[in-house]
Amino acid sequence: MGKVVAIASGKGGTGKSTVTAFLARALSEQGRSTLVVEADFGLRSLDLLLGVTQHSLYDCADVLEQRCRISEAAVPVGKMGLWLLSGSNDPDFVPDARQWNSFLQLCRRCYDYTLVDLPGGLGTMVRQSCAAADLTLAVVTPDPVSVRDCAQLSRVLLQNGVESQKLIINQVPKKLKGAIGDLDEVLDGTGIMLQGVVPFSEELQAAALAGRPLLPGKEQTAFSNIAARLCGQTRPLAFR
Ligand SMILES: Nc1ncnc2c1ncn2[C@@H]1O[C@H](COP(=O)(O)OP(=O)(O)OP(=O)(O)O)[C@@H](O)[C@H]1O
Ligand SMILES: [Mg+2]
Repeated sequence: MGKVVAIASGKGGTGKSTVTAFLARALSEQGRSTLVVEADFGLRSLDLLLGVTQHSLYDCADVLEQRCRISEAAVPVGKMGLWLLSGSNDPDFVPDARQWNSFLQLCRRCYDYTLVDLPGGLGTMVRQSCAAADLTLAVVTPDPVSVRDCAQLSRVLLQNGVESQKLIINQVPKKLKGAIGDLDEVLDGTGIMLQGVVPFSEELQAAALAGRPLLPGKEQTAFSNIAARLCGQTRPLAFR
């Protein structure tokens, strides 16, 4: 059975979709069949971030409502065992919990890893998806507002019985300045165990905007380490 990983954050714009795209590529490069599910309904970004040119007539809502099979709706990204399932175009689409759980169970049967890219905040889709996932990865940036919102996300998820939570600290500048002195303060502030650290990087930003893979470098290493850790291997946490 595959694993479902929900990618969440309290504050919006911390880099969930960017992390989802590069982590999915890293997992597929490590030989794991990987599906990316866009669950930020009404707002599409992952086709651009993954450089998908092929489009399907179907989306996630069509699979949920059994109008098509998952293999008809998910489009391949390159030839590496990576697929994208677009979200519903309807921003008000909220599947009920039972329907969403059985959809994610179907994903577990078809793929080694399913990454669910969520909207920011603490809404129904976020709580429902994290409760149904095997692991929630909370993406935080090292600024005080993001850290506080991430701590609140973690508390709300715990109240909903979501205990399997790990932290990705994204957009870490070479030198941390201001209210957050170091990464330990981010860890203490959120109270979540660390899964990985991703540097702030203009190369990464450019690759994301162009929908192309990362060139070998510290950014690529950061994602392949996070992917390897997800698969149960031991890798160093630092990127420097
Ligand atoms: N490590 C990074 N280095 C530099 N820029 C980054 C990094 N991660 C993300 N970004 C940039 O931050 C911006 C927000 O990223 P992204 O859209 O992935 O965030 P998000 O959390 O998915 O946002 P939303 O909550 O709106 O869905 C983008 O411009 C992206 O290129
Ligand atoms: Mg996003």
